[in-house]
Amino acid sequence: MINEKEYMYKVSAAGRVNLIGEHVDYCGGKVLPAALSLKNTVYVRPNGTDKINLAWTDIPARITLDIGRLGEYRDVKYANYPAGCAWLWQQAGHKIVGCDMLFDCTVPFGSGLSSSAAIEVSTLAAFSVLAGEELDPVKIALTAQQAEHEYAGVNCGIMDQYTSACGKKDHAILLDCKTLEREYVPILLGDYTLVIANCNKPHNLVESKYNDRRAETERALELLQTKADISCLAELTPDVFERLAETIEWEGKVQDRARHVVRECDRVRRAASAMKRGDVGALGELLNESHASLRDLYEVTGVELDTLAAAAQAHPACIGSRMTGAGFGGCTVSIVQKSGVEDFQARVTAEYEKKIGYKPSFYDCTIEDGIIVEKL
Ligand code: GLA
Repeated sequence: MINEKEYMYKVSAAGRVNLIGEHVDYCGGKVLPAALSLKNTVYVRPNGTDKINLAWTDIPARITLDIGRLGEYRDVKYANYPAGCAWLWQQAGHKIVGCDMLFDCTVPFGSGLSSSAAIEVSTLAAFSVLAGEELDPVKIALTAQQAEHEYAGVNCGIMDQYTSACGKKDHAILLDCKTLEREYVPILLGDYTLVIANCNKPHNLVESKYNDRRAETERALELLQTKADISCLAELTPDVFERLAETIEWEGKVQDRARHVVRECDRVRRAASAMKRGDVGALGELLNESHASLRDLYEVTGVELDTLAAAAQAHPACIGSRMTGAGFGGCTVSIVQKSGVEDFQARVTAEYEKKIGYKPSFYDCTIEDGIIVEKL
């Protein structure tokens, strides 16, 4: 049990689900994610020393960081993320106040719902609150992304950390990952609701495959730039891409990777407009198309996610389903008629277990704010 009275602040940051716009954030595209009620909470109090004491609700480790040596904890299990965040925040000119921190994470690890972004963002927000600063969620998101690059070795885009920091209750964020301009779009699905399911694939080695895909899109951009004056793949419409594609000598799978990105960016535009006009059917169709493209062109799904999405799509109460996040394992997001959710979960579970041999899990969660600070 956590005794909240022992702490001064409770600072949380959200996990996220991406509705559509997958593997486009690092190509300058727009994405449509939302912050979840699954989150990481940091209970924090100043301790009047030059040390940070770290504790966790779900692991017995207890680690002390010296504020004068924050760059030296890179290889310390569990402590490397908070230490990395503290180090980068300090390097950026912020004061780090000696404190005791207790971490409580309800975002399942390895689920593709951005537990690491939630940990990084809440840690940075906690330091900021303790130092008496006014919160700057965008700056926190950018520093958290840097921590992910340097400490987790994932050359990720900005989507997860931005959503974790800037999410808004009952809204998706239409985020332009090139300019960081954003628009909040209400999630009004009428008789439908979002259902998030984890395929529970074990031992998911996402990092290297993720970085490979990113490198392929960078190569695609170089090749396309020999023919067109563009600064990122997201600037191409599908038609222009196809015309240019015919004139290029492609290598390996690079062409299909770029084709996915360009078409996915177009789907995001259409999905945002479908959401705004309340056309849930059109949105669902775009989710299905996105999954097919991630499976066939971008090749980041795998048999588990494909089976889960196919079982969902086949259910009569479901109008669209796709993998969400980096892929290779993790979660799907489906749009399901509220009255059919129970049957949906039962039939998808049975179908999935029959083919894969173990069950998926479903998360009971809502769309919430990104960072939440409570004075205790
Ligand atoms: C991971 C990364 C994000 C994004 C998604 C794929 O979640 O952290 O930046 O690239 O994969 O859309």
